[in-house]
Amino acid sequence: MPSTVVVGGFFGDEGKGKIISYLAQKDDPKIVVRGGAGPNAGHTIEDGEKKYKVRMLPSGFLNKNAGLMIGPGVVINPEVLHKEIEEFGTSTRTFIDNNCGIIEKTHTDVDAGGRLKEKIGSTGSGTGPANADRALRTLKMAKEIQSLKPYLIDVAEQLHNALDSEQNILVEGTQGTFLSLWHGTYPYVPSKDVTASGICADIGLGPKNVDDVMVVFKSYVTRVGTGTLDGELPMDEVSKRGWSEVGTVTGRQRRAAEFDFNLAKRAIMLNSATQIALTKLDVLFPECAHKNSFDDLSLSAKKFITRIEDSTDVAVTLIGTGPGVNDIIDLRE
Ligand code: GTP
Ligand code: IMP
Ligand code: MG
Repeated sequence: MPSTVVVGGFFGDEGKGKIISYLAQKDDPKIVVRGGAGPNAGHTIEDGEKKYKVRMLPSGFLNKNAGLMIGPGVVINPEVLHKEIEEFGTSTRTFIDNNCGIIEKTHTDVDAGGRLKEKIGSTGSGTGPANADRALRTLKMAKEIQSLKPYLIDVAEQLHNALDSEQNILVEGTQGTFLSLWHGTYPYVPSKDVTASGICADIGLGPKNVDDVMVVFKSYVTRVGTGTLDGELPMDEVSKRGWSEVGTVTGRQRRAAEFDFNLAKRAIMLNSATQIALTKLDVLFPECAHKNSFDDLSLSAKKFITRIEDSTDVAVTLIGTGPGVNDIIDLRE
C-alpha cells in the first residue's frame, strides 16, 4: 500500500480472489478497484462456511468499509453486475465508470458458438465480442444504460483523490500474465492486456502511481480452455496428485502442470513485480494446511519457496495454506 496492484502470474485462476479478499480486510483500503477484461473472470472466495463466486464486482467486497469500483477498461454485463450487487448487498458502495463498455445479447450469442468457443475455448461471456465492438467504436457505454445510473462515477478521479489524501487503494487484476492479448499465448487468450500495466490503464493509474505490484502464482500451473501448457500432465495424474479443479465461470476441468520457474521469471519481468503471493501450498504440501506461520511449514515446503525466491529474485510475501481467507501466512513488513 498506498497503491497495490495484484495480478495473475500464470494463466488465471491462481487464487487472486482469495488474496485480494485477504488484503482488503487486512490493509483496509479505501477503494478496491477492478481492471481486467470482463465477466469472463471468476473468483471463488471462502469465508468460514460461506463460499462466494464473483465475476464483476471486486473480490474485496468482504471489507464493508471499502468502495468497490470498476474501471472504464472493463466491459460489464449489467445482468451479472445487478445480481452480484443484490447477492452481496453492496448497492450503496458499488461504483462503475461512466465509460465502461456494455455486453449485450448479441455479444454473448457470438461467444456461445463458432470459432471463439471451439478454437479459443472462450468462456461464452460475451467479453471478447464486446471488446471487438469497443475497438470498432460501436459498443454502448455504461452512461447510456438507465439501470446503471445510480452507480456511475469517474473512477480515475476518485482514485487520484484518494491517493492525493494518502488513502490506500487496492487494484485487482483478472486472468493472468500469459493470457495477455500482447504477452500471452495468442490466439488462445482473452481480448485484453492483463499484465499490471494493462490493469492500471483500465482504471486510470499511470506508471508512477503504483507502489507495489504483487504477482500471484499457484504452487502448480493450471489452464482452462485451449492453448499450450508446457509440461501438461495427463488428467488421471492431475487427479492422483489432488490438483483437479473446475472453472468458476464455465465448470470446465482445469488442465495442470508442475510449477514453471521459467514462466514465473518472465511474469516477474513483464509485471515489474515487487512481491509474490504463492497460493495452494497446502495442495502441494498437505502438512502445511491452515498454517499461519512460516516456521510451521515443512522443510520441503520451505525449500520450494526459497527456490522460487532464488530464481525470480523477488520475495514471497503471502502464502496460501487453504481456501479460507485467513488460511494465509503474511510475511510483509
Ligand atoms: P481469475 O480471475 O478467473 O483468474 O480467478 P482467481 O485467480 O481468483 O482464482 P479462482 O477463484 O478461479 O480459483 C482459485 C481456487 O483456489 C478457488 O477455489 C479458491 O478458493 C482456491 N484457493 C485460493 N487460494 C488457495 C490456497 O492457498 N489453498 C487452497 N487449498 N485453495 C485455495
Ligand atoms: P474469453 O475471454 O472468454 O474469450 O476466453 C479466452 C481464453 O481465455 C479461453 O481459453 C478462456 O478459457 C481463457 N480465460 C478467460 N478468462 C479467464 C479467467 O478468468 N481465468 C482463466 N482463464 C480465462
Ligand atoms: Mg478464476
